[in-house]
Amino acid sequence: MLREAWDANAPAWIAWAREPGHDSYWRFHRDAFLPLVPPPGHLTLDVGCGEGRVGRDLGRLGHRVIGVDGSAAMAEAAATHPGAPGPVLIGDAALLPLPDAVADCVVAFMSLQDVDELESAIAEAARVLVPGGRLAMAITHQANTAGHFALGPDDGARPFVIEGSWFERKALSDTCGRDGLVMTFHSEHRPLHDYVDALADAGFLVERLREVGEPDPESKWSRIPLFLHILAVRS
Ligand SMILES: C[S@@+](CC[C@H](N)C(=O)[O-])C[C@H]1O[C@@H](n2cnc3c(N)ncnc32)[C@H](O)[C@@H]1O
Repeated sequence: MLREAWDANAPAWIAWAREPGHDSYWRFHRDAFLPLVPPPGHLTLDVGCGEGRVGRDLGRLGHRVIGVDGSAAMAEAAATHPGAPGPVLIGDAALLPLPDAVADCVVAFMSLQDVDELESAIAEAARVLVPGGRLAMAITHQANTAGHFALGPDDGARPFVIEGSWFERKALSDTCGRDGLVMTFHSEHRPLHDYVDALADAGFLVERLREVGEPDPESKWSRIPLFLHILAVRS
């Protein structure tokens, strides 16, 4: 189960996410994503909030935020941070511990590729939103999870290879180590139509879809998307 795997990895994630400048969030991903989030309204839910860095940034922008995470250790870290913008609940994205139509915005930043039950999580986001409310989500891009760069010189022409099927769901486990921090990412590759079908079935209309690569033109990830952002409105 992905949820249990993330809970077991919570100490490593908290260290990883809180190290300033360490990952793409600090370098460019936050700046690419936050302009997609609607202006502050009555209540914003941060689903899969982790240790809470997105919620803290939303709080600084004026959002009243409730965080939700499936890991008790993550939720505790988010709730006890001095910059926490609001309460944090332990709960599953697929069964949110909140009443119907309570929020005007749901943010799911880099969490939906990590949940066990994607369709239920998107249906739950719709349930807790008021009509006209919006879901702003970021996930790993399907190209990123389906393939990898071939071995060879990093000269800007390195081939990108998809060896398995783009269309089949596939469990992923990726261990990354950098600057003394090690993190194992557990997720699932799912084709793009699985996300869009889940959104449509839950009553969402997609307003924007953005593909995000590294802004550094020297990076091999400047020509293949790393992340996918979607803004969807609940009908
Ligand atoms: C990559 S982290 C992202 C954390 C945070 N949004 C950030 O970007 O800093 C994914 C988060 O999703 C949470 N998660 C995984 N499965 C979940 C589920 N079923 N329900 C709620 N949260 C879940 C994990 O515990 C983890 O905190």
